[in-house]
Amino acid sequence: MGYNLLKGKRGIIFGALDENSIAWKTAQSVHDEGGTFVLTNAPIAMRMGQIDELAKKTGSQIIPADATSVEDLDNLIAKSVEILGGKIDFVLHSIGMSVNVRKGRAYTDENYDFTAKGWDVSALSFHKVLQSLYKADAMNEWGSVVALTYMAAQRTFPDYNDMADNKAYLESIARSFGYFFGKEKKVRVNTISQSPTATTAGQGVKGFDGFISYAEKMSPLGNATAQDCADYTVTLFSDLTRKVTMQNLFHDGGFSNTGVSQEVIEKF
Ligand SMILES: NC(=O)c1ccc[n+]([C@@H]2O[C@H](COP(=O)([O-])OP(=O)(O)OC[C@H]3O[C@@H](n4cnc5c(N)ncnc54)[C@H](O)[C@@H]3O)[C@@H](O)[C@H]2O)c1
Repeated sequence: MGYNLLKGKRGIIFGALDENSIAWKTAQSVHDEGGTFVLTNAPIAMRMGQIDELAKKTGSQIIPADATSVEDLDNLIAKSVEILGGKIDFVLHSIGMSVNVRKGRAYTDENYDFTAKGWDVSALSFHKVLQSLYKADAMNEWGSVVALTYMAAQRTFPDYNDMADNKAYLESIARSFGYFFGKEKKVRVNTISQSPTATTAGQGVKGFDGFISYAEKMSPLGNATAQDCADYTVTLFSDLTRKVTMQNLFHDGGFSNTGVSQEVIEKF
């Protein structure tokens, strides 16, 4: 929008795959607000995605990193500090993947190797990112780290499968690491619990179209879009939210506190 909210701030943005990605929209919005950043994604996503185009548009460099590899993360952080010319002010973790969902395994028929892989990518990777930043002392004071989550961590959405458990774990990491990062380095750590959003990861969830329409009808303000999420994330990276930490912040048009809506009643 152009308030210069992030002028002079440096960051790392994980998870921009294509122009639908929440991370893609966030990168553009951060750029519009004057922030500079390094883009990163898994090496495989580089080949499939269009991240080069985003890098060009935002004047950013790309450093591939598998978020499950501590070695990759350490390298990413060291190089980012070098490229950006100083310590980091903001980090977006916008990463999720369930092998059980991909392979069509029901929650009651998990393959535990798949479960472990999905947990590593979707949940533990957040701890790895935080720990690598912490150990390298790579964050500036009053920096901000945000990860994306979904309300299936609190309430059951059957087709969300093992991602529900991964999100519960992810949200817990934000609280637990947020304590230490706040105490030692004055860095805040939060998760944004976003509405269902039409992206590659979102569409992987079975019955997604019905699901997103239902959420739309259940939210007084309607679903939050990827662009809405980008705008919200900018505020959390800005200096205007310096005492917000260890929170799971619902960004869902009011869905999470709505019992039923008139539209849904009328359907029955
Ligand atoms: N789309 C939704 O409905 C929705 C709702 C709430 C929360 N979220 C969360 O938002 C985040 C972003 O997802 P999205 O909807 O923009 O979809 P997306 O598919 O565009 O983004 C997911 C990203 O994760 C990356 N990734 C996967 N494995 C990785 C690895 N090993 N290392 C590094 N990166 C890896 C992918 O390459 C991709 O860029 C995820 O955490 C997702 O769970 C999505």
